[in-house]
Amino acid sequence: ENISIIGVPMDLGADRRGVDMGPSAIRYAGIVERLESIGYKVHDRGDLIVRRPQVNKTANTNLKYLDEITRVNLELCETVSAEMEKGNFPLVIGGDHSIAIGTIAGVLQHRPKTGVIWYDAHGDMNTSETSPSGNIHGMSLAVSLGYGHESLTSIGGIHAKLNPEKTVLIGARALDPGEKDFIKNLGVKVYTMHEIDRLGMARVMEETMEIVTDGTDGVHLSLDLDGLDPHDCPGVGTPVLGGISYRESHLAMEILAEANVLTSAEFVEVNPILDQVNQTARVAVALMGSVFGEKLC
Ligand code: ARG
Ligand code: MN
Ligand code: MN
Ligand code: MN
Repeated sequence: ENISIIGVPMDLGADRRGVDMGPSAIRYAGIVERLESIGYKVHDRGDLIVRRPQVNKTANTNLKYLDEITRVNLELCETVSAEMEKGNFPLVIGGDHSIAIGTIAGVLQHRPKTGVIWYDAHGDMNTSETSPSGNIHGMSLAVSLGYGHESLTSIGGIHAKLNPEKTVLIGARALDPGEKDFIKNLGVKVYTMHEIDRLGMARVMEETMEIVTDGTDGVHLSLDLDGLDPHDCPGVGTPVLGGISYRESHLAMEILAEANVLTSAEFVEVNPILDQVNQTARVAVALMGSVFGEKLC
């Protein structure tokens, strides 16, 4: 099977600068060699071009850097869609989590009933009305479900949107009040840290696989490295204590690999400025190893 790596050096969707260096850090941690050693043919498509406006100039909105984020996500949508057209597995590396908008829009062109696993400390389910920050990386899941600013929800077409009942959040522990209401109203399944502690990751993933595979035509993994504990992944812009462990995350990836259903993936929010000798990027690559079928023995 062929994997196409698409880098998106974007940090305009987040408050802290630096996740734009995530794609370089993940490559430096050996992503291509790792996937090749499992037996894949890997095409590194390089990075999309992201402009660097030093001031936010988008008028009439509280969404920061809306224009450039919209432009890049339109391009990402087309790039992901073109790779899937060729039969390649799209693996997007970020970059802040706003890039999920373009990735998922591209995926939905080919697999309109895709189920999603959103592995994250956050919900990323804000809209301009509920966002405490105006940062678009906190809105990308809402947009992919069809809610938010029209420039963003129109990417890929207003009908190419996720089904909330086929969307699962894992690792949530920092949800804003508006997000909590929204999650309940839409019927999105959430495994917070409470459920992970209580049920164990094996059961959480088994239930998750049921939800995202039943009646869907693909499964997308959107993995924000801040879903893991900051002790294991210090290089993220919005760390939240009490996260998923490195081992639990490997188990989650292994269960996902065993099900053999994954059709696209993205790994986002690696911030090398805040990291310790590239540890977070190395964790990202190790988890990719597991999710693409690497075996310990
Ligand atoms: N909920 C906060 C906000 O909307 C934080 C979002 C963090 N998102 C992320 N992808 N790291 O501003
Ligand atoms: Mn930057
Ligand atoms: Mn997050
Ligand atoms: Mn996120």
